[in-house]
Amino acid sequence: MSADREQFGSRLGFILAAAGSAVGIGNLVGFPVAAAKNGGGAFLLIYALFVVFICLPVMMAEISIGRHTQQAPMQAFNKLSDGHKGWTAAGFLALLTPFMIAVFYTVITIWLFGYLFETLSGNLSQLADPSYFGSFINSNSIFGYLIAVKAIVYFILFSGVKDGIEKGAKIMMPALFVMLIMLVIFVLTLDNAFAGVTYYIVPDFSKIDAGVINTALSQAFFSLSLGMGIMITYGSYMRRDDDLPGSAKFVAFTDTAVAFCAGLLIMPAIFSFNPEINTAELSDSSVGLIFTFLPKIFLALQVSIGYFGASAVAAIFFLLVFFAAITSLVSITEVPNSAIMGAMNYSRRKSLSILAVSVLFFSILCIYSFGRADALTNFLNYGGVDKSFFDVIIDVFYDTVLPLNGLLSCLLVIFHWKRSNFHSELERGSPAYRGSFLERYVDLSLTTFIPIILSVIFINTVAYKYFGVSFIG
Ligand code: PHE
Repeated sequence: MSADREQFGSRLGFILAAAGSAVGIGNLVGFPVAAAKNGGGAFLLIYALFVVFICLPVMMAEISIGRHTQQAPMQAFNKLSDGHKGWTAAGFLALLTPFMIAVFYTVITIWLFGYLFETLSGNLSQLADPSYFGSFINSNSIFGYLIAVKAIVYFILFSGVKDGIEKGAKIMMPALFVMLIMLVIFVLTLDNAFAGVTYYIVPDFSKIDAGVINTALSQAFFSLSLGMGIMITYGSYMRRDDDLPGSAKFVAFTDTAVAFCAGLLIMPAIFSFNPEINTAELSDSSVGLIFTFLPKIFLALQVSIGYFGASAVAAIFFLLVFFAAITSLVSITEVPNSAIMGAMNYSRRKSLSILAVSVLFFSILCIYSFGRADALTNFLNYGGVDKSFFDVIIDVFYDTVLPLNGLLSCLLVIFHWKRSNFHSELERGSPAYRGSFLERYVDLSLTTFIPIILSVIFINTVAYKYFGVSFIG
């Protein structure tokens, strides 16, 4: 079967698709806020170290598992472990996790689409009203946006790996880079912009504690789309003789560069809007920042560039984040899709149709969990807090399970696949990797401290989220 497995058409295609997955709401909004709250340049430094020394080896492990097995994560775990029972369960988790993340990410993407649509319709002043977001997410227009977003995502996926995923990334990613750079240049010309830049870049090491270190590592892990099965799936579509370590480095670098530039966009914008801002007041959630705080800033721009100009800036911003979200949503949906295609021997069309209906069903449950249906709104209570169905998906699948999945990939490489086979896969298409410092580092880190660190993060998150106990931070 593997002979007719779909493939990316070029190395650049893989890089853009993987970077498209990695660059998402986490980079564009989550990262700047985390950096602003946690010591600016000090956070940036720690984050960069984590990307290079921890995330890059995990990313290389995930991509090579995919390329070697030519399978989706569910089947790849099975294949490399020779059908060991525990690994079959892990494989199931590797199917369920991306499915559930696809559900909640669909919901956020439809909000973005709605805000883009409203901005283009000239309704920026409405969006800036603090009560708007609450009524928007419970309005019936949400269902229209839901259909539109699903049509875009499934149109891309129906077209296949090369003509859909790769082509989509080749169009959206360069557009995203251009919009990001344009917006950065624009905000840097605003009054007080440099106060924001200073705040963002100058390190404040006094803010660094165990909690901040944990945040930096989790953020880096999420941002690079690790633990979601995406890199395994995209790795399985990578051409056998392409340079894998080099591509992984490029993806990690691009993702980090975009996150850094997003900070240069968001922080000056916030400071120019309110030079006295106390960053502790910034919402922890990306959602709060994108949908309630930023529209106020965009509207305030009308004083200097007029309502039309302010709406144009807002529209470019929402389009930028929307593109980032679509390429991520495509990647996360492709993981269960490729698992279903592999397990059931279904065509892409059939498998995607089943998935589209299932994701739609759960997305509607999420949409009903913001007040429309009480059982879904107050779905569970743990850690002393009432949680909606939507919150539970984020807590369980996005915040908790990812480091566990990353850990499982490391353990699979160490105990089943064996390191020498792993390194041989990395050497294909990259002869210089053999005997390099990188090879020695990847070997050492993946077999020692990376699994330990990922275990600590997982245990700490479980203790903190569900039992209200914190070991670190
Ligand atoms: N890397 C993405 C981000 O930063 C995370 C993600 C990828 C989420 C794919 C969902 C799907 O937002």
